[in-house]
Amino acid sequence: MDSSLPLVLARDGSGPLHLQLAEQFRAAIRDGRLQAGHRLPSTRDLARDLSVSRSVAQAAYDQLHAEGWIAGRTGSGTYVADVVPLQPVLRTPARSPEPAGPPLLTLRPGIPYISPVADAGWKRAWREVSTQAPASGYDHPAGLPELRSALAEHVGRVRGIACGPENLLITDGTSHGLRLLLSVTRQPGDRIAIEDPGFATAVSAARQHELKVVDIAVDEDGILVSDLGPDLSAVYVTPSHQYPLGGRLPVARRNELIRWARRTGATLIEDDYDSEFRYDVAPLPALAQLDLDRVVHLGTLSKVLSPALRLGWLVASPDVVDRLAAYREEVGDWPGWPMQAAFLAMLRDGYLDQVIRRSKRLYSERRNHTCAALAPYGQIVGQDAGLHITLLLPGTDDRALSAEARAAGVVVAPLSDYQRSVPGPPGLVIGYATPPDDVAFHQALDVLSEVLSRHSAGRGTRPDPSGS
Ligand SMILES: Cc1ncc(COP(=O)(O)O)c(C=O)c1O
Repeated sequence: MDSSLPLVLARDGSGPLHLQLAEQFRAAIRDGRLQAGHRLPSTRDLARDLSVSRSVAQAAYDQLHAEGWIAGRTGSGTYVADVVPLQPVLRTPARSPEPAGPPLLTLRPGIPYISPVADAGWKRAWREVSTQAPASGYDHPAGLPELRSALAEHVGRVRGIACGPENLLITDGTSHGLRLLLSVTRQPGDRIAIEDPGFATAVSAARQHELKVVDIAVDEDGILVSDLGPDLSAVYVTPSHQYPLGGRLPVARRNELIRWARRTGATLIEDDYDSEFRYDVAPLPALAQLDLDRVVHLGTLSKVLSPALRLGWLVASPDVVDRLAAYREEVGDWPGWPMQAAFLAMLRDGYLDQVIRRSKRLYSERRNHTCAALAPYGQIVGQDAGLHITLLLPGTDDRALSAEARAAGVVVAPLSDYQRSVPGPPGLVIGYATPPDDVAFHQALDVLSEVLSRHSAGRGTRPDPSGS
């Protein structure tokens, strides 16, 4: 045997002997101790030298042979194959962890705080999933047919959209639905209007699809339909609760938007953001209710249960749904089965309605506390719905203020982060649903109030205790 190669086998249960042996040969070839063409000992000699059975030596060679480290056949000798060693990648040292400080409280917008684990409806749904077998092949690329029927009934009842399963496609959420739609129905260079300020994810999806983003201003009611030009191929709009300013698009403007789309042939992409949570009056029916030939409607479970579930739906004309489903099949973007099956059970048992009713009560209380605490410092908008309010703070550097809040221990989003080219007042976007319990919520609100109070004192403006 090759005396230059010390082979040591551990017989203390550190793993099968043939694998230990193979690894030592591999290491020797890798680091150049065994060169290409070098003849290896026969299995008989190897077995004798190491006091192992010949089958162990043979199994090690078989393994190395299968992986391509050695060549040659029994009888004619075994040689090291011509493997040019790769220089191992030098790992970049792990970044040193952020200096530990007290954990941050968060009032970031858009995250619900409902924890479903104690709910009978949640448990029942998952128990039911665990007793079913998934389909043995791929499911329908538009989503489970039974779920699409149940959802058609749901969006008909709660959003006023008259539709059937042929109008529904299950998605991984609003962002996913938007990307699918853009992939299939838009061409690079198409112009898409997006509210400004607006949803940054929609802007980045449009840019990734090489669309030209046209910034459209919003006022306290939502998008300014009169600013839409004739050369747009699509408009992305949040009519139930404009994100982030909170306007609710009134009927006259909705009708104007639909008339404009019919005239120009553009598609209206309705992000039904926050429609579930209105605290003053019942939500207006969805825009899609007015014309499913012109509107594609995007819904999500992200605000009702959790964004981690990655489940949403898209309502559109059957033609659009069919095209999207065909595309999904082509690219292998199949919707996963377990979440769909669980959601079907939740819908059927009325669990979703129950969660919305319950969370509306909780959120409306939090909303009241938030408005009461922050009204002295600026003008609050968007408080009639959703999971956040926006505090307008004219003349403030909102990014600096948000950094100041972070340094004090609470995360809030500056309104400037949502603005693109349309000038607007600075402010803070404050999500009151995010803290995981009421203690954290009140703490976060206290810290933020303190930061705002310091800030007003620094600017020589005194808080207005009436909040007006
Ligand atoms: C305006 C808007 N629409 C939709 C969503 C939800 O997106 P998804 O369903 O992909 O989680 C968000 C999330 O923050 C949002 O801000």
